Amino acid sequence: MRQRELPRPVLKWAGGKTQLLERILPLLPERIDTYFEPFVGGAAVFFALASRKRFRRAVLADRNAELVDVYRALQQDVDGVIRWLVKYGENHNEDAFYHVRANRPTRLVHRAARLIYLNKTGYNGLYRVNRAGEFNVPYGRYKRPRILDEPNLRAAAAALQGVELVVDDFSAVSRQARAGDAVYFDPPYLPLSRTSSFTAYDRHPFELEDHQRLAATFADLARRGVPTVLSNSATPATRALYAAWTLWEVQVGRSINSQTHLRGPVAELLVVNRPRIARPQGRQASPPR
Ligand SMILES: C[S@@+](CC[C@H](N)C(=O)[O-])C[C@H]1O[C@@H](n2cnc3c(N)ncnc32)[C@H](O)[C@@H]1O
Repeated sequence: MRQRELPRPVLKWAGGKTQLLERILPLLPERIDTYFEPFVGGAAVFFALASRKRFRRAVLADRNAELVDVYRALQQDVDGVIRWLVKYGENHNEDAFYHVRANRPTRLVHRAARLIYLNKTGYNGLYRVNRAGEFNVPYGRYKRPRILDEPNLRAAAAALQGVELVVDDFSAVSRQARAGDAVYFDPPYLPLSRTSSFTAYDRHPFELEDHQRLAATFADLARRGVPTVLSNSATPATRALYAAWTLWEVQVGRSINSQTHLRGPVAELLVVNRPRIARPQGRQASPPR
């Protein structure tokens, strides 16, 4: 896969899937009628499928309204977003970062540019909010952050034309999928240990009961004949939730984790909603590369 392929994610997002694209893309159908991504985050899989023209239509959803508004702004007025990012780039320094962080712009394009700017210049590309829902990531001390990547913003905006953008729980959009469509689920992961959890995407943590709801939705999509792929951490709890399905373990180098000692390769699971195939010694084949 070419590294500079456009469009790529416009935001750094915890759990971003760019590294795993070569594993995930072959698990989805070659031709998809409507592609659903109910935990869209940085949208790495959507952008990769869009550049390969693998779907006719797409529905992208996330419970984070600020994030979905970035995609709405790009869809509606990429020039407006670019104009704001030029301004932010010209004035960038630590004081300006905190000034922008304290601002609460009301217009869609301005809010979107603010989030992109804070994401490119804030510590480690994290998205984190306080109890009041205010973005509170500190300054990132990058030498030359790439605040404006105009070719990629334009490519992303083009890919987003005609896409349905939804702020909702994953279950609402998943219900719409039919045979001929496909779904990719990339939820906040089940924690590897009690202390390793990174759940601060928004104010509402994704709990074990949400994972159980998701596993039920995953099974329901199989009953309705909708090809579905899901990512999660390789924990005994995840394996138990998806024991009925075909699952593969893959190694991923993680760059966003609240604890430095947990940065480095970690095992993740890719689950496909085809019934598990019995193999000698219970081994599963490697996913296609
Ligand atoms: C692991 S991230 C997705 C990463 C994404 N695949 C990427 O490449 O950047 C999980 C996303 O799920 C969203 N989320 C959390 N709970 C949700 C829910 N109940 N329904 C829908 N989205 C939710 C978070 O806001 C976050 O953006």
